[in-house]
Amino acid sequence: MTRTIVIANQKGGIGKSTAAANLGRALSEKGHRVLLIDLDPQGGVSASLGVNSFEVKRSTYSLLMYPDISMARVLRPVANLMALAPASIDLSNAEVMLTTQADGPLRLRKALDRNRIPFDFIIIDTPPTLGLLTVNGMVAADELLVPVQPHFLAMRGVRSLLDTMDRLRQTMMNRDLQLMGLFATMHRPDSQISQEAIAEMREVFGEKMFSTVIEYDEMIAEAPVAGESLLDYAPDHPAAHAFRSLAEEILNHG
Ligand SMILES: Nc1ncnc2c1ncn2[C@@H]1O[C@H](COP(=O)(O)OP(=O)(O)O)[C@@H](O)[C@H]1O
Ligand SMILES: [Mg+2]
Repeated sequence: MTRTIVIANQKGGIGKSTAAANLGRALSEKGHRVLLIDLDPQGGVSASLGVNSFEVKRSTYSLLMYPDISMARVLRPVANLMALAPASIDLSNAEVMLTTQADGPLRLRKALDRNRIPFDFIIIDTPPTLGLLTVNGMVAADELLVPVQPHFLAMRGVRSLLDTMDRLRQTMMNRDLQLMGLFATMHRPDSQISQEAIAEMREVFGEKMFSTVIEYDEMIAEAPVAGESLLDYAPDHPAAHAFRSLAEEILNHG
């Protein structure tokens, strides 16, 4: 059984794409076959694995816009056991064009249904909006994973994200979508606000909140510059281990 996980939070710059790349890598290190799908026109996860969205010919744009394209033509290997469906910058046009299509929100789901390639995990990275690209990710997935940067008012954004999930369930767009959980990213252990926000998240979300916390760490921002996941760039760095432990929690959760 493939587990399809969408990573979403409409706040930008909080570590979504970083989580997609490194969780994907942590799972593939453990022997699972992973497909990363980049639905962000900014191509965060593609760039962090050394793929330039400006140069990509076949991308998730093709998957959304051309019903007949085969997934195999879009995928490229990015690590052992890990493939990427990269983003291209024209993806933002897809968002506009799909709004006039009745099946606009369903395009990614249809593309995945048409192409049953054997992966253990499909991880979908989304842009920092609740627009049609993110909705495509949420319609195609079974599980929603929400990174949250712990600070004042962080919970507000999470609420509207969860409302969107409820709406997709109620309108039957994706009845099966479940909240897998939330985890804190860019945590600053020396910040009182950061600590308090995590405590609040634990109180509100209980067991839906992962134990693993990803701290703010410059090394995490260095790896993408080298076009590598952190797990390849600095395999023994504590932050690399943090992503492995997050992956472990996800495996235990399944
Ligand atoms: N825990 C972290 N500590 C330090 N820098 C981080 C961390 N997570 C991500 N970054 C950096 O912050 C920037 C935004 O992260 P990114 O994953 O692209 O966020 P998003 O996808 O939510 O917009 C990137 O430059 C990334 O390398
Ligand atoms: Mg991103």
